[in-house]
Amino acid sequence: MECAIRKWNITDAVDLARLLNNKKIMDNLRDGLPYPYTVKDAEDYIATMLSANPENTYAFAITLDEKVVGSIGVFRCENIHFRTAEMGYYIGEAYWGKGIMTSAVRQTCQYIFEHTDIIRIFAEPFGSNIASCRVLEKAGFQLEGLLRKNAVKNGRVLDMKMYALVKEDAE
Ligand SMILES: CC(C)(COP(=O)(O)OP(=O)(O)OC[C@H]1O[C@@H](n2cnc3c(N)ncnc32)[C@H](O)[C@@H]1OP(=O)(O)O)[C@@H](O)C(=O)NCCC(=O)NCCS
Repeated sequence: MECAIRKWNITDAVDLARLLNNKKIMDNLRDGLPYPYTVKDAEDYIATMLSANPENTYAFAITLDEKVVGSIGVFRCENIHFRTAEMGYYIGEAYWGKGIMTSAVRQTCQYIFEHTDIIRIFAEPFGSNIASCRVLEKAGFQLEGLLRKNAVKNGRVLDMKMYALVKEDAE
């Protein structure tokens, strides 16, 4: 299913709160997000993204027929890793399994490699997150390794997987 990516608008907060206010999504993300996730929380997130350094933070709403259905962000790392960036994403449960995230990941990575000096984009899904691993594989990421016992989520020790896409011709 063909989606689009675009910059956030503060008026997306209602849609964003509706999408993210879901334990099944939160259980696959890092800790730190409030639950329940309110419209005010969504407004704060969008405002933070809009005021962030545009050289380091690339945050997009994922839309389908102009409606916000998900979120994807690429965040530049620091120090010697300044040309590496971490990607994170989620899509509303009603839209899972339609190929939307695979398309959004492809579009986002193409944008980053065409418009920035970033040469490596990585993502670290939990080993148990088969859908996310599959998205990354379909979008051309390589599995570089298993990060054993790399996280504690909801009281459980979890493995994670390191996937990366590199700009092959970059110097
Ligand atoms: C992971 C997530 C982003 C996937 O988005 P999506 O739009 O449903 O992904 P796609 O439809 O593009 O691709 C999903 C793939 O996973 C496969 N899949 C999903 N669940 C699966 C399972 N339990 N076993 C095997 N394959 C599975 C689908 O069949 C599909 O692969 P296919 O096209 O080869 O059939 C979405 O489920 C989500 O937001 N989850 C919660 C948040 C999250 O996990 N974010 C990522 C953190 S790293």
